Amino acid sequence: MHAEAPVRSVTYVSRAATPLTQTSLEALLLESRANNERSGLTGMLAVRGDDFFQVVEGPEAGISALLASLRRDPRHTDMRILNDETVPFRQFPDWRMRCERLDDYPVDTIPGIDAMGGGGASADTRTRGVPDLVRWLQARAARALSERHPSAAS
Ligand SMILES: Cc1cc2nc3c(=O)[nH]c(=O)nc-3n(C[C@H](O)[C@H](O)[C@H](O)COP(=O)(O)O)c2cc1C
Repeated sequence: MHAEAPVRSVTYVSRAATPLTQTSLEALLLESRANNERSGLTGMLAVRGDDFFQVVEGPEAGISALLASLRRDPRHTDMRILNDETVPFRQFPDWRMRCERLDDYPVDTIPGIDAMGGGGASADTRTRGVPDLVRWLQARAARALSERHPSAAS
């Protein structure tokens, strides 16, 4: 694997403007993955009910452009950036935009779940939850990858 310069990583939450359907989510992912492939972005979108929690990471120019697009995208609302930093390594290097629906998990089994909307958590509580939730999502992404490629499990 070639070395990469540090990348910008942004985590935000938002809410679907109209009730989210499987079809609208799939269309969103298809579009996002094609765009992200072109602009060198990777990340993760967690969905619970109509709440989004997304990590996007990659070159500064691509992230700035995506944030501008996201801010004017009428498909979601109440966008709040929870974290914006430069990181030495990508957190989801293998995913053009992994998606995880969290509706079926009992919420008290997910560390940092307060970072997502819905529960009326304060801005501080949300921000504090981000690292735990991201780690939990990373662990699930790693497991999904090893199930897909058994040789990558070791
Ligand atoms: C919750 C959510 C997540 C999104 N994630 C991405 C993404 O990862 N990459 C992307 O290119 N577009 C994503 N989009 C779509 C962008 O908002 C935008 O429609 C797309 O980048 C096209 O931008 P443009 O209309 O400025 O050309 C997302 C939209 C929503 C509502």
